[in-house]
Amino acid sequence: MGIKIIGTGSYVPEKVLTNHDLEKMVDTSDEWIRTRTGISERRIASETEASSDMAFKAASRAMEMSKTKPDELDLIVVATITSDRITPSTACILQGKLKAHNAACFDLQAACTGFLYSLEVVNALMTSNPKFKKALIIGVEKLSVITDWKDRNTCVLFGDGAGAVILEKRVGKHDIGGILASKLASNGDFCELIKVPAGGSSNPTSAETVKKRQHYLSMEGQEVFKLAVNEMAKACQDVLLRAKVDISEIRWLIPHQANLRIIKAVGNKLEIPEEKVYINVHRYGNTSAASVVIALDEIVRTGKINRGDYILLTAFGAGITWGANLLRW
Ligand code: UT7
Repeated sequence: MGIKIIGTGSYVPEKVLTNHDLEKMVDTSDEWIRTRTGISERRIASETEASSDMAFKAASRAMEMSKTKPDELDLIVVATITSDRITPSTACILQGKLKAHNAACFDLQAACTGFLYSLEVVNALMTSNPKFKKALIIGVEKLSVITDWKDRNTCVLFGDGAGAVILEKRVGKHDIGGILASKLASNGDFCELIKVPAGGSSNPTSAETVKKRQHYLSMEGQEVFKLAVNEMAKACQDVLLRAKVDISEIRWLIPHQANLRIIKAVGNKLEIPEEKVYINVHRYGNTSAASVVIALDEIVRTGKINRGDYILLTAFGAGITWGANLLRW
């Protein structure tokens, strides 16, 4: 038996915000952004485009690829930190838009690691419960609404977008592979490193919190950088060891697209050739839970993946959370 990805899709908004555009908004330069992060441009959703709208477009593409009808979906999981509303979940809002009335739906919040967490959670649910045969997982973010466009430390980093996969339980004797091993980890001792200080139950939105710009995301970049490199590399080594797969057998390493220097440092630590490390951070910036799954969809749609290939995913984000999944295509 295997829980297999049978379709992928992604969507990024039309509006492109370049580094040169940002030069006009804050005290920064295209040169600083490119050399410190590798980012050249990012996509920004329109005012009327919510996370569920982007999720709908990515989901529709994955469903089209896998020829999945809405009523075949048993589960919908949306990984996001920018849900449409506090409640109901974006997964339920998306369910309504898709008319996928047979699905159980919930959101999963593990920041940039959300898609990787969702893969393993759905894998476990599908393995243990015979009712779950087909699932939709989305990674989606409208980070532009929690970005402080006056803070040069963060506003150059983020972008909006969505990615989707359809998973199916396959029970045929040739249906090996799927999700081979996952490592999910977190450490709440570091919960202050990346945060949105206000708008939740500990510090509800008030005129004061808005004035102090506390409903925007803040980050201690350097500290996050060091932890990210070490933990992503260790998580990758962990899943490889458990699945008895050597790094030389990996077709693609898809790291969370936060910073080109982090991506390269993780690749170097794992001693994987540069051409096997997928990079699109220059085009989209950091799209949090959407980043790995948008990259996966690009690889699939450009025919850069074959049946039997090993794919290694890794991510790191607020919480702090981190992890890795080893997939066999
Ligand atoms: O997705 C969740 C996980 N997040 C990450 O993985 C992000 C991890 N961190 C990073 O990617 C990097 O730490 C950043 C890109 C956020 C920052 O790069 P850095 O090399 O760590 O720079 P820094 O924060 O040490 O800042 C260096 C200098 C500072 O000036 P001084 O104090 O040396 O005079 C900053 O004020 O660069 C300055 N700076 C900028 N200058 C121009 C910070 N942001 C900017 C900017 N433009 N946008």
